[in-house]
Amino acid sequence: MIPVAEPLLLEEDRARVRDALEGGWISSSGEFLERFEEDWARACSMPHGIAVSNGSVALDVAISLLRLEPGDEVIVPSFTIISPVQSIVRAGGVPVLVDSDPVDWQMDATRLEERITDRTRAILVVHIYGHPADMDPVLEVAAKHRLVVVEDAAEVHGALYKGRPCGGIGDISTFSFYANKLVTTGEGGMVLVRTAELAARARGQRNLCFQPQRRFLHAELGNNFRLTNLQAAMAIGQIARLEAIVARKREIARSYDTLLGGIPGISLPVERGWARNVYWVYGLLLDPSTGLDAVAFADRLRARGVETRPFFLGMHEQPVFQEMGLFRGERYPVAESLARRGLYIPSGLGITRDQIETVASSVKECLR
Ligand SMILES: Cc1ncc(COP(=O)(O)O)c(C=O)c1O
Repeated sequence: MIPVAEPLLLEEDRARVRDALEGGWISSSGEFLERFEEDWARACSMPHGIAVSNGSVALDVAISLLRLEPGDEVIVPSFTIISPVQSIVRAGGVPVLVDSDPVDWQMDATRLEERITDRTRAILVVHIYGHPADMDPVLEVAAKHRLVVVEDAAEVHGALYKGRPCGGIGDISTFSFYANKLVTTGEGGMVLVRTAELAARARGQRNLCFQPQRRFLHAELGNNFRLTNLQAAMAIGQIARLEAIVARKREIARSYDTLLGGIPGISLPVERGWARNVYWVYGLLLDPSTGLDAVAFADRLRARGVETRPFFLGMHEQPVFQEMGLFRGERYPVAESLARRGLYIPSGLGITRDQIETVASSVKECLR
C-alpha cells in the first residue's frame, strides 16, 4: 500500500529528541519548548507562541480567549474538520456556517456579510488542504463589524497569502503538528497571539490557570494542554528547513499536475494568483460525468494498493450537530458536492518518484 502520508524525520531531529531525553527535561519546561514557540511565532510573523498538546485544543484555547457569552456567534466554513466547530460549541457559542468556493475549496468570503448578526463575535477562517483562504475580504468585513479574526492554520505551514504567512494575518491563529503535517511533533499544537495579555491568558488555559504570583490560587478554570520538551525538540530542525519542506511538497504537486493534468473526469488543486499553496494534501475532484463518487473511486484505488482519504463532510451534515438542533434545514451545496466528489492521494514528504507514477497511472486506470 502506498500510504497517503508518512512523516519524514532526519537524524538531526532524532538527535535533538535524544538531547532532550538525556538532559532530563522531559516534561513541559525546557529549552526546546521555548525555542519551538519562538521559532514558530517568528516563522509566522507573530509576537507570541503558546505550544499545546494538539491542534484541537489549540482551538479550544483560541476560542476561550474570545470569552464568548452563551449565544454569541462565530462564523466558520461548513467544509472543515470538526475541531474548530466543536470548540465553538463547547465554549457555549453558536457556529454560523458559510459555504466554500468550488474552485479553491476555501471559505467563500463573498457570503460572509449575509451571515453577520448583532451576536457575531468572530470569524474563524480554516485554511483548507494547503491553500490559503482569501483573507482581505475577511479582514475588511471583520474591521467593518468589529469582529475578531481567528485563523486555523493547521494545514498551511509555510503557505503565503499575498506574501504573508498564513497564521500571521488574523488576531489569533492555531496550528496542529500531527504526524501528517509539514512540521510535526508527533502530536502537538500552537496558538499564536498578538498581545502579551492574550499570551498570558493562553498560557493559563494551557496550564490549569495556575497564577504566576500565587500558584494554587485560581481565578478561572483551565486545562492541562501542555506539550513536552521532548516533542518540541523534534520541530526545531524542521522549522529551520521549512522552505525546503515546502519546496518538496510543491515539487510533488508539480509532478502530479504534469501526470494528471488535462485528463477528463477529474479536477486538480489550484493555486490562486495571490497564494503560495503548500499542497498539504493533493486533492482530486471527480466530475459528475464519471458516474463515480469518492467512496467508489477510493475502493478502486485501494484495490491497486493506493491509500486515499475522502474530503471533509460538511458540518451541517454531521449527526452530532443535528442532534443538538444546529444547522436544521441548512444547505451548503459546494460543501456537499466537495464531500461526495473529493479525495486526496498519497503526497507525504517521503514519497518516491516511482510511487508518484504508480499513483498517477492507477488514477488513470480507475477513471477508465
Ligand atoms: C484544519 C485543522 N484544524 C484542526 C486540526 C486538529 O489538529 P489535531 O489533530 O492536532 O488535534 C486539524 C487536523 O488535521 C486540521 O486539519
